[in-house]
Amino acid sequence: MSKLRFDGKTVVVTGAGRGLGHAHTVMFAARGANVVVNDLAGADQAAEGISATGAQAVADGHDISTPEGAAGLARTAFDAFGSVDVLVNNAGVGRFAPFAEEKQADFDLIMKVNVAGIYHVTRAFWPHFVARGQGRVVNTTSPAGMLGNAGQAAYSMSKGAIYALTRSLAVEGAEHNISVSAIAPGAFTDMAAQSLTGHDATLARLREEMPSELVSPVVLYLAHETSPASGITLDAGGGRVGAFFTGSTLGIVDRALTPEVVAARWDEIIDRTGYEVLPDGNSLIALRRPAKD
Ligand SMILES: NC(=O)c1ccc[n+]([C@@H]2O[C@H](COP(=O)([O-])OP(=O)(O)OC[C@H]3O[C@@H](n4cnc5c(N)ncnc54)[C@H](O)[C@@H]3O)[C@@H](O)[C@H]2O)c1
Repeated sequence: MSKLRFDGKTVVVTGAGRGLGHAHTVMFAARGANVVVNDLAGADQAAEGISATGAQAVADGHDISTPEGAAGLARTAFDAFGSVDVLVNNAGVGRFAPFAEEKQADFDLIMKVNVAGIYHVTRAFWPHFVARGQGRVVNTTSPAGMLGNAGQAAYSMSKGAIYALTRSLAVEGAEHNISVSAIAPGAFTDMAAQSLTGHDATLARLREEMPSELVSPVVLYLAHETSPASGITLDAGGGRVGAFFTGSTLGIVDRALTPEVVAARWDEIIDRTGYEVLPDGNSLIALRRPAKD
């Protein structure tokens, strides 16, 4: 198979001053892309490091959590390279505590950066992708957002929102040839160290086996023009790649439904035999029709 390259393509990565975002930009640049390295801190140094390899990189220091910051990032990218092919929404914050002890200020920050930020940034580039009839967006959710984790309620909630955004924009973007996918990564970074305080064995495993560089290949594939992916969330970490999917069981349909029917038929309702993987929310309507004899 020929090497997947990005020559002449422009890739914007948020939160790329360190950690996963930094690893993504390094790999994109090594494969020919022009990269826009956004971060609140460390963007200049990261972009200089990439430029030193002979690749085209510009730094952007906007705060992506506001509409103005997102617009500023788009301006940096268009001023430097004229157009954008790929947006990688990677910037995120984590604050971790048992549910009852979560602080209001932490909840507010998580929602502002992880939820509002990705919304503003994607909207800043979306009209450009629609006008060009092409674009690829790779979002960053989390295993916590897909599956839940104790002690991470606000963070998981924000990452669940990113999954929902990915699904909806993939459906909406299809007619414009815009692909929208996501990763749920696992890698040893500053944030991972923070989230795993007290879990020394897991943290040690992460440090030894899960460098950010083993997540970036998944991002590059989702971002590549030859990838058929859209609407999918890949689980990526330590070289493992899997695909999450949302299904529903075949369930029951009873037009005289009562709570007692739900109780009596519980085992049938949760039986996964012959489950359906649905392309979007509206397609549930078909499943809700009574079966015809
Ligand atoms: N490391 C993991 O195992 C893991 C697991 C699940 C999800 N994630 C997600 O991966 C992404 C990258 O995380 P990481 O592990 O590399 O963490 P990290 O903390 O090392 O990097 C995140 C970067 O985002 C930047 N950032 C934060 N707020 C910003 C803002 N308002 N504007 C611009 N930049 C901002 C930070 O300055 C930081 O450099 C995050 O979305 C995180 O939630 C990471």
